[in-house]
Amino acid sequence: MNNGKVLFVFMVIASFVRLDKITIDMETVTKNIATTSERIQRLWQLVGNTPMLELHYQYKGKPGRIFVKCEHYNLTGSIKDRMALYILHKAYENGSIQPTDVIIEATSGNTGISFAAIGKAMGHEVNIIMPNWLSKERMDIIRGFGARIITVSKEEGGFLGSIRLSENMAADGDVFLPQQFSNCFNAEAHERTTGPEIYFQLQQIGLLPDAFVAGVGTGGTVMGIGQYLRGENPAITIHPLEPSESPTLTTGYKTGSHRIQGISDEFIPSIVQLDQLDETVQASDGDAIIMAQKLSAELGLAVGISSGANVVGAIKLAEKLGSDSVVVTILPDSNKNI
Ligand SMILES: Cc1ncc(COP(=O)(O)O)c(C=O)c1O
Repeated sequence: MNNGKVLFVFMVIASFVRLDKITIDMETVTKNIATTSERIQRLWQLVGNTPMLELHYQYKGKPGRIFVKCEHYNLTGSIKDRMALYILHKAYENGSIQPTDVIIEATSGNTGISFAAIGKAMGHEVNIIMPNWLSKERMDIIRGFGARIITVSKEEGGFLGSIRLSENMAADGDVFLPQQFSNCFNAEAHERTTGPEIYFQLQQIGLLPDAFVAGVGTGGTVMGIGQYLRGENPAITIHPLEPSESPTLTTGYKTGSHRIQGISDEFIPSIVQLDQLDETVQASDGDAIIMAQKLSAELGLAVGISSGANVVGAIKLAEKLGSDSVVVTILPDSNKNI
């Protein structure tokens, strides 16, 4: 017993000494392994092509099914990896980013995690600006990817203040601003990747989607996927989802507060064209939390609260459209991206 303990201490010290001697110059590693476009192609192997599942349930005593796209399988555990990588891919293609630029983004969370990881993998310094009331865990994950976090208080303008600060910092030059709320490549990322994946995954089992629903943060997901699926099936309905406690899409302005991180900020983003979308679906934040817990505890799907909201919305739509309908939604992130 004693010998075992001594051996354990010795091994820890030995490995500590060894680790201490290892230095990794990530800049040299990432710059030497590949050209920019090769690096982007390699990153695409870690982003997208996520699985889709058919979920069966009982609702109001009746059996039903919906289809869910598992976006928590992306590199950093959220759908935002697609948008971040696509925006950088396009920026390198059209020359709007330089290898030495600092990436600065105002974000409420997952986007910061995606740009921190993917921006770093591309060799950039990354600054993330976010309201100071967001979860410490999210900030720790972003810092863990080597990004710098700048927080903005309610008095300094909160979310809109974060966007203003990012624009002011860009005025100094050598900065790339992804601007996910207004960048057309945000929705295009989903039109070119998530939408086709959903369509072909259903096609493989002989189905066509009748309806698609997704919570709106920037609106890139619902607009981009909607655009692609409508092109393939003009009869499809595309539904944005909002928290019932904070119905910004329905009212047109910020009202109430809610607990579904990642959706329904303080305004309707310019990417969202409500006249191109069908009826807005609502989910209460309490139901979304319980559904996310059920998905994890009963099915092993370790997903976040907005996934719970999307599943609630999809079940409501499937109830309306009938038991044979093909309603699709997204599980946008993992329950570790809190
Ligand atoms: C957890 C989560 N769900 C949903 C969304 C909404 O995605 P989009 O910005 O494409 O509307 C986001 C966006 O940040 C998110 O973080």
